[in-house]
Amino acid sequence: MQWRVPLADVEMTDADIDAIAATYRSGWLSMGPRIAEFEAAFAEYAGAAHAVAVSSGTAALHLQGLAAGLGPGDEVIVPSMTFVATVNAIRYTGATPVFADIAGVTEPWLSVAAAERAITARTRAIAFVSYGGHAGTLAGIEELARARGLLLLHDAAHAIGARLDGRPLGGVAAASAYSFFSNKNLALGEGGMVTTGDEALAARVRLLRSHGMTAVSWDRARGHASGYDVVELGFNHRLDEPRAALGLERRRRLDADTARRAALVGRYRRLLDGVVECTMAPAAGSDPAHHLFTALVAPGADREAVRARIHERRVQTSVHYPPAHRFAIYADARVELPVTDEYAARTLTLPLFAHMTERQQDLVVDAVAGAVAAPVA
Ligand SMILES: Cc1ncc(COP(=O)(O)O)c(C=O)c1O
Repeated sequence: MQWRVPLADVEMTDADIDAIAATYRSGWLSMGPRIAEFEAAFAEYAGAAHAVAVSSGTAALHLQGLAAGLGPGDEVIVPSMTFVATVNAIRYTGATPVFADIAGVTEPWLSVAAAERAITARTRAIAFVSYGGHAGTLAGIEELARARGLLLLHDAAHAIGARLDGRPLGGVAAASAYSFFSNKNLALGEGGMVTTGDEALAARVRLLRSHGMTAVSWDRARGHASGYDVVELGFNHRLDEPRAALGLERRRRLDADTARRAALVGRYRRLLDGVVECTMAPAAGSDPAHHLFTALVAPGADREAVRARIHERRVQTSVHYPPAHRFAIYADARVELPVTDEYAARTLTLPLFAHMTERQQDLVVDAVAGAVAAPVA
């Protein structure tokens, strides 16, 4: 299908291409100076003392859980309304994910009350997901975690550039995991970052991303280390220099991109008023990253039929997400999540990207209006 309006789109500028080409010409492609520069810039941007670049958002989730000490016997409270990687990464550490419901069908992030009800004697951590790039209930969950002596971990894959009361979100939890996958606000193809205020946790993520080795090739090439020891069972979860160079370049226009996304979201809300129910209303003090724009079909409506009618107009849609607790791999969880189930049945993700034009947005709005008004076949 040749979409007139795709769900997301990556714009590559000449400056992006130049940054990547210069890196290839430098001849140093694995971890090196650009990674160090990208990490420093990202830490500052995300409001955390430390940032460690890794190969994907999933790797970031995996390593932040391991570095925070999650392991067998630990329970981690997590929303089911997320990309399955959030949940799988808990399993990688040997810990057990425990699903909790979301706050509401227009607030698809962890409910503080539901998270509190899910706490048991084995609960070690709460994994918060900034769904759509919103802070949502993060402050309430942080308070709950603090009051109950639990670790707070953060899936910030959608939240690059998001702020709450003027402060970036990357320093709130014990660790936050970001993704640079192609559809994300800072798209590098693949890549991820762990941010944390905890120096020891950052050091452990650095160790684990490269086989538990005490020195990497770049240190040895600079004569800073002549050998290395292996002190932990680590992985190859490294990012490479061309992606770091692209990240530094794209980071320059990220705030402008986020402002553009915010303007488009405001316009969607105005144009869709009375057409479909929109989710994630602006909240006081919150400056979301606006990674996703979702709307809800009417209760009982056939969402897939609505999507098919929108697709006939060559406007792409998606569903974020099929809930994790309904996947076969998590069928054993046997948990009741009525709000998550309702959201999952009604939600519809509409196109949103920084360089989307108003003309494209009008096409989306017309397609949605036509699709929801059409008689049921
Ligand atoms: C909420 C969420 N968590 C985790 C991930 C995993 O990130 P990655 O694809 O970079 O591994 C993604 C995106 O893919 C995501 O949307």
